[in-house]
Amino acid sequence: MRRVLITGVTGFAGSHLVDYLLTRNDCEIHGIWRWRSRTENIEHLKPSDMQLHECDLRDATSTFDTINKIKPDWIFHLAAQSFVPTSWVAPTESLTTNILAQVNIFEAVRRLGLKTRIQLACSSEEYGMVFPDEVPIKETNPLRPLSPYAVSKVAQDMLGYQYWMSWKVDSVRTRGFNHEGPRRGPVFVASDFAKQIADIEKGKKAPVLHVGNLEAKRDFTDVRDMVRAYVLALEKCEPGEVYNICRGRCWTIREVLDMLLAQTKAKIEVKQDPARLRPSDVQILLGDNSKFVKATGWEPVIPFEQTLRDMLEHWRSR
Ligand code: GDD
Repeated sequence: MRRVLITGVTGFAGSHLVDYLLTRNDCEIHGIWRWRSRTENIEHLKPSDMQLHECDLRDATSTFDTINKIKPDWIFHLAAQSFVPTSWVAPTESLTTNILAQVNIFEAVRRLGLKTRIQLACSSEEYGMVFPDEVPIKETNPLRPLSPYAVSKVAQDMLGYQYWMSWKVDSVRTRGFNHEGPRRGPVFVASDFAKQIADIEKGKKAPVLHVGNLEAKRDFTDVRDMVRAYVLALEKCEPGEVYNICRGRCWTIREVLDMLLAQTKAKIEVKQDPARLRPSDVQILLGDNSKFVKATGWEPVIPFEQTLRDMLEHWRSR
């Protein structure tokens, strides 16, 4: 049985990764949590499904001890401060959390002399400012990050490269484009809109849906396809390499809003909230997934329309 450690297991992608690994029945699953972590995303799991370890990845001792105890064959490093706007409010917190955790994991694996393969959840946000003649974006595109969050992900990405070159610590850097689905945190755009609609339907909120920049374009994949891709990355991809994971199709946020509004009978007014506009928004993320598809044979199978339906149902049922 392969020993697998998932950081960020109580989060959105982490919890879906556990669900997927359980269907494969070929690994012993370990997850990391902090005493104040919310656990609603993993409450459906049985105690025998996964072993939970208390660990703070920003603390080198805590990270070292946990990795030493588990000695994982694979690590999926999904834990992060992942909400872009928060990184302008508290840039130091986003940078230290994301970069320190990465260094602490690499140092633990290096010092212990483990042969662990590590998947790094890097991000399409790293591309940042993308010019019209650069889409669909390849891995070779310049990185022009537009938020402290994006800078923190560039740092994680470059650390992956550097630890491979310096120490042969084996990681695969996955630049994940936007992914959505049930359990998505309510601050991210599709989940935020779906929750507002569900709250309006229940009469918990006045029939006004607040939005930010509707002109931005994002390449959306279902989280359940995304976590399958993370596993394939460790099964089939080259150490030290970087891969885009995306559908290769983008939608404006206005289109996402319209697709969600088409699924409700409620009469809803849409209003822009200036507080939801960003100091510098990434206008377009449309990826080229051919390098990853060639290496793994992966293809996304869940249509975005279904992802949005599932998200709305998730909020309606809560
Ligand atoms: N959150 C939010 N709320 N975004 C809005 C809103 C709103 O009310 N209205 C418009 N948007 C726009 C944002 O300005 C942005 O252009 C787009 O919707 C997507 O915003 P988010 O869902 O917050 O995601 P993100 O693209 O900033 O970042 C997500 O994807 C990255 C990968 O590309 C996060 O999951 C990151 O952690 C991830 O790395």
